[in-house]
Order: sequence, then structure tokens, then C-alpha cells
Amino acid sequence: MTSIYLNNAASSWPKAPGVAEAVRRAVKAMPAEPGRGSGHDTDPRDECRSLLAGLMGVPWPGQIVLTSGATLALNIAILGCVQTGVRSVVATATEHNSVLRPLRHLERQGAIRLSVVGLTGDGQVDLEQFAKALAGGADLVVVNHASNVTGRVNDAATLFRLARGAGALTLLDASQTLGVLPVRPLEIGAQMVAFTGHKGLCGPEGTGGLYVSPEMDLPPVLSGGTGVRSDLPLQPDEMPMRLEAGTPNSPGLAGLAAALRWAASDGRLEGQRRRDLGSLLRRSLSQIRGVHVFDAGCPEDAGTGVVSFTIAGWPPDEAALVLEECFGIRCRAGLHCAPEIHRWIGSAPHGTIRFSVSGANTESDVEAAVSAVRAMAAARAEQGEAAA
Ligand SMILES: Cc1ncc(COP(=O)(O)O)c(C=O)c1O
Repeated sequence: MTSIYLNNAASSWPKAPGVAEAVRRAVKAMPAEPGRGSGHDTDPRDECRSLLAGLMGVPWPGQIVLTSGATLALNIAILGCVQTGVRSVVATATEHNSVLRPLRHLERQGAIRLSVVGLTGDGQVDLEQFAKALAGGADLVVVNHASNVTGRVNDAATLFRLARGAGALTLLDASQTLGVLPVRPLEIGAQMVAFTGHKGLCGPEGTGGLYVSPEMDLPPVLSGGTGVRSDLPLQPDEMPMRLEAGTPNSPGLAGLAAALRWAASDGRLEGQRRRDLGSLLRRSLSQIRGVHVFDAGCPEDAGTGVVSFTIAGWPPDEAALVLEECFGIRCRAGLHCAPEIHRWIGSAPHGTIRFSVSGANTESDVEAAVSAVRAMAAARAEQGEAAA
């Protein structure tokens, strides 16, 4: 029986207070007519957009497109950019498959040239390689705000300053950071920001979105019903409708609105707590003999609540199974949908064991997880000594 949940980088649990009730209320309520509130209720999409705009410090709620998550948001951004003539893309080795796969697909079709910039020995995006990639021509630069493998926060502001200096469009993947760290597109220089609702924001799965700067003219890659302007032969031009086709996930978005209301009040502490507990985990695991923490040197202010490690003698997937079945700790093992970074941090081909905390975890959860890992490392060390 699982008692400690340390897989919050995949999806946070528990969800923010009020989320479950809001989803339930929305499912039970009579569906609203598009373009109209349902009686006295407001459209959850309007509330989500205005709370998200406040969270990101942008004055244009209408520039926030609501999607089923970061994956759809990233595909809308990338494919839309290619429709406007983007032919050369630079990304980093820290990207998730929701960036790498659409880009590789376009590369295979001959639609784009792709450069994936590697990391330096201390875990940062290699600025020299990055500058070389930009010099080779870049129409679009995609940066993961924080790795979902190591928890390291990339210096997106510097990367985007260089990118924009080279004339490239900029797309930030804030899946691991919105709700955990400030994500301010105007300060970072991000013209597009993809985000998810079910990780740092502690909202429901199947929610997320894309901020698009008003200076951009991103064309739709999906067309369909919008509930209004049905006379038009093509997808309406106005944002955010231009990039939103089909019936919205109203119950999910009602839940996201509840999570965002919480993020605007008590949730402010969530991010700092994640980061503090993440630092405690990183430090404590690093001290165990036989445990290797990846990017152990990550400074406290450049980390999220995510820590990757291996235990000598334990394949990561087997270790995760034992952590769950013998110690009641739910975590994740493997490549974590981010295959490139493992070549740079030395964890290919099997990947890592990943612990990822939320603000709902406690110091005693961290202590229990650390002592489980200590016991597993000691058990394999003893077996090794006995066999020698
Ligand atoms: C860095 C990163 N990007 C993108 C995604 C995809 O997010 P979503 O589940 O909202 O599609 C994830 C989640 O797994 C992620 O960690």
C-alpha cells in the first residue's frame, strides 16, 4: 500500500483544495452555452485566463489559449510556427518528448533543420554550443524552463536574449515550473509559453495551455467548432478562439480555476516548499554511500522539487518497484520521456530513479524516502561484500 507519493513531476497529488469539488459541481451542472455564462455561473475559461494572466504578469488574458495540456500547447506552437515559415529550430538536450518528438517528426519530413544543444559538465545548457547553433541559423528556439529529470532550472532569460538577438522566435516549456517558480514571459523574453495544469498548479490532468505574445500571428493547426461564428468557412481569426477548436473540457477547467484561485493565495507557498524539500532530498541522498545523485551540484536557487539518482547494484526500474512494494514510496524510474538529457548526465540507457515532491509532502516523507534508499544501498553493498 503506497503511503508516500513522490511522483509529483508526473502529476501532482493531492490536488489543490477545492479542485475535486469544482470538477464535481461542473459535471453535475447543466452544460453552459458557448459564448454565454450558464445562469449565474461564470465561464471557467474566462476565470482561468484572467488568473493565468495575473500569475504570468501579462495584461492580455485573451492571449492565453486553453488546451488539454502542455503536449497539445507545444504542438500548436511548433506546428503553427512551421506554417509561418520557420525552417530552422534550436532546442536543448533537456527537452521532453512533447518537444523532441514533434521536432524530430518535422525533421524527418524535411520540413525543418534541428539542432539539439548539449550540456556542460556542471549541468547547464552549453552556451558555446548554443551560440554556434544560433550562428548556423535559427528561426525558433525552444527551451525547457526546468528539467523534469534533474530539476535544474535553465537560464531561459539568457538563452532567449541570445535567441532574439539572432532573430529567432522563442518558446518556453514551463510544464515543470508554473506554480513552482515565477514564470514571467515579458521578463524572460518568451514569446510563447506552454504550460500544464496538473503539475505545479495542482489542478486536474487534461488541462493546460499556451500563452502567445500579441505581437505574434500564430496560425491554427486545428480547426473545428467554436460554438459561435458558425457562418465562417474557416477558424475565426480572433484570439483565443483562433487556437481553440472543439468543445472545451469545462469540468477540468473549473478544477483548474479552483487550483489557480488557490495558487493566487495559499499556493504561493507551494513552490517554495517544493524547492526546499527538493534541496533537502538532494543533499540527503548525496550523502549515502552507493547512491549517485545526478546534477548533485545544482545550486539551491536553480532547482525544483525533482531529484534523480541511481543506487549501485539496482537497475532503476527494479529499485522503483521495491521502493513501492516494500517501503510504500511511489516514484518513477527510467528515461522520464526526456531521452536526450541522459546522454549528457551519464544515465543512458537505463535512466534514473526520480523522486519529485510537492508542497503537500513533509520532512518526514523525505526522511522515510532517504532511509529506504539507504537500506537498499546497504543491502546491495552487503551482498557485494559477501560475494567477494
Ligand atoms: C518538461 C515537460 N514538458 C511537457 C510535459 C507534458 O505535459 P502534459 O502532461 O500537460 O501534456 C511534461 C509532463 O510530463 C514535462 O515534464
